[in-house]
Amino acid sequence: MDPVRNPYAPGAGQRPPELAGRDRELQQFEVVLERVARGRPERSMVVTGLRGVGKTVLLNTFKSMAMQRLWGTGKIEARPDQSIRRPVAAALHMAIRELAPRHRAPERIEEFLGVLKAFAMRDPAAAKGTSHWSPGIEVPASRGRADSGDLEIDLTELFVDAASVATDLAVGIALFIDEMQDVQAADVSALCAACHELSQSGGPLIVVGAGLPHLPSVLSASKSYSERLFRYARIDKLDRDAADLALILPAREEEVEFTQEALDALYEAADGYPYFVQAYGKVAWDLAPRTPITIEDVKVSAPEAEEELAVGFFGSRYERATPAERDYMHAMAQIGDEPVATAEVADALGRKPSSLSPARDSLIKKGLIYSAERGLIAFTVPHFGRFLRAQPI
Ligand SMILES: Nc1ncnc2c1ncn2[C@@H]1O[C@H](COP(=O)(O)OP(=O)(O)OP(=O)(O)O)[C@@H](O)[C@H]1O
Ligand SMILES: [Mg+2]
Repeated sequence: MDPVRNPYAPGAGQRPPELAGRDRELQQFEVVLERVARGRPERSMVVTGLRGVGKTVLLNTFKSMAMQRLWGTGKIEARPDQSIRRPVAAALHMAIRELAPRHRAPERIEEFLGVLKAFAMRDPAAAKGTSHWSPGIEVPASRGRADSGDLEIDLTELFVDAASVATDLAVGIALFIDEMQDVQAADVSALCAACHELSQSGGPLIVVGAGLPHLPSVLSASKSYSERLFRYARIDKLDRDAADLALILPAREEEVEFTQEALDALYEAADGYPYFVQAYGKVAWDLAPRTPITIEDVKVSAPEAEEELAVGFFGSRYERATPAERDYMHAMAQIGDEPVATAEVADALGRKPSSLSPARDSLIKKGLIYSAERGLIAFTVPHFGRFLRAQPI
């Protein structure tokens, strides 16, 4: 069928034509926004899940919800090799720019921007003169606030000031952090402490995160009270009804239907994982000659969808691993698809567990595996074991 009208959208952070099966999370976030706006004590949300389950898409949807309520919003994507100071400054700059036109007292905005600039300029990279980044803020940097160089103190002061600007407008500010498991340990601790301070003062600023399944343990390793700061929403593959809706509703807009058998086959292939639902749906659409899309169309298109996933979804990640890391993952895949014991992987490779720690740690850092529990590891990418078993070693 006409590829131009193909509604499906496989891709990182690509907004799906139908955000299926996430009503509970959306409702929860609605409540968070409402309570924070009213100055009620409320835990912020952190979305966790495997690769491709729709964390980024959900975070972006939360952001739109906040914007609809006229909140100021900003978003960062954490990187393991980067302090969050500059990205947070840039994100809060965006948030304040959203609010500024509605604010009656321009001097309040300028005052905040002065603090924001001072905060940004304390970036260690900027101090060394190695940075070409300038905050692009036209006001002079102020002194004595959010510029101590201690991220915990500075973030707290910055958040309190940003929240106070939002309070003037009876709205809030939401700072979104994607790939939150990659925030450096010292920064996680500062971030939690700042959120903690803020929650005590009732200021309307929330930090909303998304990350891999081990994010809660990253946060609690840093601050034991993190469980009281964030409500964790673990998102997973879609159940059968939601997966069907993700396919049916966008097609119906284009007056295209699926037969029941086609939907059965698509569910079997995609296993409810949102990325796979989009990928199989897209190819089935392109190869189907007419509506309704049948099981034959799905069967004919499956190899092409698998090929695309092998390159784009699995292959691009596999390529990030070194030969030693690949051996490690192949050993994991041979053991099975459940979380596996690191000791068992060492056994399978005929090595001492300690000698494999570097490979394991760097795979965790690259976001390919995560520690599901102490001593256990699992792939962050759904069906990755199956993909590896089909690879020549
Ligand atoms: N609820 C949903 N219903 C249908 N499709 C969805 C849903 N959520 C996400 N998708 C689709 O799944 C794909 C992956 O989404 P997204 O990039 O948000 O995942 P992710 O969890 O952030 O993955 P990663 O960990 O790799 O960053 C996209 O193509 C998106 O359109
Ligand atoms: Mg993502």
